[in-house]
Amino acid sequence: MTPMKELKVNLGDRSYPIYIGSGLLAKTELLTRHIRSKQVVVVTNVTIAPLYLQKLLDRLGDYVVETVVLPDGEKYKTLSHVEKIFTHLLEHRFSRNATLVALGGGVIGDMGGFAAACYQRGIDFIQIPTTLLAQVDSSVGGKTGVNHALGKNMIGAFYQPQAVIADTAVLDTLDDRQLSAGIAEVIKYGLIRDIEFFAWLEANVEKLQDRDEKVLAFAIERSCVNKAAVVAEDEMEGGIRAILNLGHTFGHAIEAGMGYGEYLHGEAVAIGMCQAADLSRRLGFLSQEDVGRIIDILKRAKLPVMPPDNLDTARYIELMSVDKKNVDGAIRVIALEKLGRATLPINVELAALEQTLDGYKGA
Ligand SMILES: NC(=O)c1ccc[n+]([C@@H]2O[C@H](COP(=O)([O-])OP(=O)(O)OC[C@H]3O[C@@H](n4cnc5c(N)ncnc54)[C@H](O)[C@@H]3O)[C@@H](O)[C@H]2O)c1
Ligand SMILES: [Zn+2]
Repeated sequence: MTPMKELKVNLGDRSYPIYIGSGLLAKTELLTRHIRSKQVVVVTNVTIAPLYLQKLLDRLGDYVVETVVLPDGEKYKTLSHVEKIFTHLLEHRFSRNATLVALGGGVIGDMGGFAAACYQRGIDFIQIPTTLLAQVDSSVGGKTGVNHALGKNMIGAFYQPQAVIADTAVLDTLDDRQLSAGIAEVIKYGLIRDIEFFAWLEANVEKLQDRDEKVLAFAIERSCVNKAAVVAEDEMEGGIRAILNLGHTFGHAIEAGMGYGEYLHGEAVAIGMCQAADLSRRLGFLSQEDVGRIIDILKRAKLPVMPPDNLDTARYIELMSVDKKNVDGAIRVIALEKLGRATLPINVELAALEQTLDGYKGA
């Protein structure tokens, strides 16, 4: 068994630890050291509850615990489901010093975090991410929120957790498609700021997919190191944090355009990273060979690299124009200056964008 790793997200008095290791869900003290009061609410969903909820509740015997079990899926990441959490908390007289524990993937983490940010203007919360995507990305950095019919993640808050507990053993029950979706975000870190990690991934992507414990633990740790560094530098995304959105402007358009849940977030991001790479080549930053390396590793990770046939360029552009990175209505995209180095958001001429949307064929 690989030993537990502890990283830190450095945000002054809001700093917090990320614990990474196999079997952490059974370590009571790791969790309870971050709980300040008697009242704890666990938010999870119908898929994760039968797998891991009891294990977590066993750790919380000394507390007054409520559970909120939501339906499973991106399409339920809405205000009305966050409101269910509020109603439950109010009905059970939860007070300002309660702690919310989000046990699940990115959907539960984003909703639980947002509920914690809003309930009585903010209660403590702890992230227990259970998907690879959540362990390497969504549980770290304090972005919380929900979707709106007119745009993904359009309603939300920056709100940091007290701790992130990533138990790699829970990934055993995750299906291969979800694992691949998480690998898309892992590859993203290599592309935007860590060429050494990208090269390591090129050598190890199959082992990652086979859930080799050591390889998985290293990939999660290195991803979190990258994410924590970016977040510590720019918590509220005034600048550099935007690089974490590589592929996301295109990807969010796919998610919204095809209907939330049709493409997994990581799948849409994989396609989006190919499109961002193609655009970067058209802008003169990347070579065709670089683009080929990106497409190749994503394919090896069993991720899609081709945009959906039925999302035409006009609709893409319409969807991309509601992205949060946009300023004064212009579409802004993260490109790659070279492999391992992302640009800040750049205003893209409509013509260049159209060329990528029309011309990228994922060869
Ligand atoms: N806040 C951020 O910074 C941030 C970053 C990236 C993504 N996100 C958001 O995260 C969401 C995607 O997260 P996700 O990919 O984790 O999806 P998800 O939360 O929908 O989880 C994927 C599926 O796996 C199931 N599942 C979770 N853990 C499991 C386990 N251990 N075993 C078996 N099944 C399990 C879930 O029930 C779900 O069906 C999107 O809404 C995205 O916008 C947020
Ligand atoms: Zn993402």
